[in-house]
Amino acid sequence: MQTQTGNPSIHKESREVAIDAMRLIGELHTLAAFTSIEPSPEGTAVTRVVFTPDDLRARAWLKRLAESEGLLIREDAVGNTFFRWVGTEPDLPAVATGSHIDAIPHAGMYDGTVGVLGGLEAIRALKRSGARPRRSIELVLLTSEEPTRFGIGCVGSRLISGTLDPERADALHGAQRGSEEETLAQVRTAAGFTGPLSSVRLPPDYYHAWVELHIEQGPLLEREGIPLGIVTAIAAPAGYRYIIEGIGGHAGALLMPDRRDALCAASELILSIEKHALATGVIDTVATVGTCDVYPGAVNSVPSRVTLQVDIRDINPIRREGVMQAVRRDVEAIGKRREVRISESLVNADEPAICLPHIVEVIDEVCRSYGITAKHMVSRAYHDSLFMARIAPIAMIFIPCRGGVSHRPDEYAAPANIASGTRVLASALGKLASE
Ligand code: GLV
Ligand code: MN
Ligand code: MN
Repeated sequence: MQTQTGNPSIHKESREVAIDAMRLIGELHTLAAFTSIEPSPEGTAVTRVVFTPDDLRARAWLKRLAESEGLLIREDAVGNTFFRWVGTEPDLPAVATGSHIDAIPHAGMYDGTVGVLGGLEAIRALKRSGARPRRSIELVLLTSEEPTRFGIGCVGSRLISGTLDPERADALHGAQRGSEEETLAQVRTAAGFTGPLSSVRLPPDYYHAWVELHIEQGPLLEREGIPLGIVTAIAAPAGYRYIIEGIGGHAGALLMPDRRDALCAASELILSIEKHALATGVIDTVATVGTCDVYPGAVNSVPSRVTLQVDIRDINPIRREGVMQAVRRDVEAIGKRREVRISESLVNADEPAICLPHIVEVIDEVCRSYGITAKHMVSRAYHDSLFMARIAPIAMIFIPCRGGVSHRPDEYAAPANIASGTRVLASALGKLASE
């Protein structure tokens, strides 16, 4: 099934770039099978944490696909994998696309994967069209976009862009319970990715342009009946870790007035974060406490230590910091009143990314030529593009996902939207590669 969207008679290019939607959707399902969990009644549940056997098997499968297309493959020290279709002027900075294939626990099958397999299909479609790009076109699989394993997202693209200190990166260790002892250095070495992380960084003129295809992960496109979004900016995420230390004891014998319960204090802190995020009155401020590790974690033991991970985002980093300052005032009060020790550590505080108007315009032009309505929008989720923006001009293409649902097994994107997003990606890459 070769899918053409829009009116193919308008522009010559729209006759040429055809997406093999059946193959692409089939590959998305094959990739979804590299998962450490059983199928869920809610949908195609995927857990594929970076450098687990499933992630490594998925990478090997993807490399075989790319090899059969004759793409040149390079892997760096953190496992970022580059698949290059060499252009007629190979010394010019390449045009790149890519995303991630790691998936958080109990995720769906489209987050990241659409950008990787869509990127591969975009290259195949351009090849089938008979085109040979002037600039090389490169698909990049970025390592550990999800913070599941190392507590910080976009490890691969942070290292590429020089945003994460290589030594600090190698010392990162598990945010997941039970993986505390494994550092990135140990895990990547065991996975076969060796060499200094300083070698991962790419120079600012390495790419002429970067375009990432991704599901929207929000409800706007579907709600407005628009098949495609063009991202103009990516909101700025920050991450903090709080450790709350109280005094533990016997759940029956330790009297209530004598308690210094770390989890009760943590509960107040969680509510304070929610309250201050809401208090900005702006829909762009979002804050989440997504993990809560309770020590010793026994039903008949008063919690003595709690670790919380906080994810807070805003398109305006100054407002984001304002929320954190209000939270810190509460932290002091909670600590004093409950006689517990609360310490905060910064995981990351990133700046927003602005997409290059020229690339947005190229994508707009492609959409117009295909008769596809496109909406300009802000990405509230973060993506590797946030960091690729530090070394390259970027933009992103969003496709709708059902109900705006993501990071859940019932995440779903319609094949027709995946196909038309991929087609727009292919043509945009083709145009940018001819510049
Ligand atoms: C990416 O997965 C994000 O959390 O925005
Ligand atoms: Mn995700
Ligand atoms: Mn993603």
